[in-house]
Amino acid sequence: MKALRHFDASWKSFRIQIEDWLTPWLISVRKHSDTLIIVGASGGYNLPLKQVGKFKRLIVLDPDPSAEWIFRGRLIRHAPKTKITWIRRDYFRDTSGAEWVAFLNKHPQTPVLFSNFLGQLFLLLAKSSDIEQWKRNFIQTVASRSWASFHDRFSCSVAPLTSGFEENGFSERLSNAELLERFYTGPKFRKVELQDHETETFFPKDLQAMYFHWAITSQTHHLIEGMFQIRVPRDRLHLVESK
Ligand SMILES: C[S@@+](CC[C@H](N)C(=O)[O-])C[C@H]1O[C@@H](n2cnc3c(N)ncnc32)[C@H](O)[C@@H]1O
Repeated sequence: MKALRHFDASWKSFRIQIEDWLTPWLISVRKHSDTLIIVGASGGYNLPLKQVGKFKRLIVLDPDPSAEWIFRGRLIRHAPKTKITWIRRDYFRDTSGAEWVAFLNKHPQTPVLFSNFLGQLFLLLAKSSDIEQWKRNFIQTVASRSWASFHDRFSCSVAPLTSGFEENGFSERLSNAELLERFYTGPKFRKVELQDHETETFFPKDLQAMYFHWAITSQTHHLIEGMFQIRVPRDRLHLVESK
């Protein structure tokens, strides 16, 4: 409901930033795959549905039953023929990674979009010593395919200092300490509490990233990180080479 209330007004600028950042990735991966896996789609509020709907088939993972009907209802306006397979099973509680990898193996080479999902995982997973190891291994599970993720790094009641940042485009990925220095320095942050969404260790530092500000409400501001990779499937490479 919160999503529906804020959908048009305060989320617009974030939606446009995500669309600008994600569309080139969607166009590229569609050249090699007519299917896209989306993890944590919710109602698709922040996704560029026109582009997403150009895939012939979407495999969507989200256990929220109301999300499915909102997503279907919104997508159909852009893409009535796109086939949606909605899966409610939770593949992420098993921190051995075995269930997630078994799912991926059923869809080899299909690109994966983590849609504002990884920054919520700390709420779902019980703390244990092997979680950090699992997070460090996570990138390996998608290393051989195209993937994209936008996810929370920090949130708080005051907007991060992103102005002037978006124009710089991609930067090297920043550590928590670097993010705090770049986006949260100054008197207005002295008395506010920052929530760390525990996504620092999901990806190595040597990747490129983009940073966005999402004002969920006037009192809730998220610093979102966007990253992607494009991998041309081996059989497609062969086809191109043999021409
Ligand atoms: C922060 S919301 C993101 C919503 C949407 N992508 C957006 O940007 O507005 C996280 C979503 O992850 C979903 N989720 C929770 N557990 C999940 C799981 N195990 N697998 C896939 N999605 C899950 C939630 O139902 C929720 O829709």
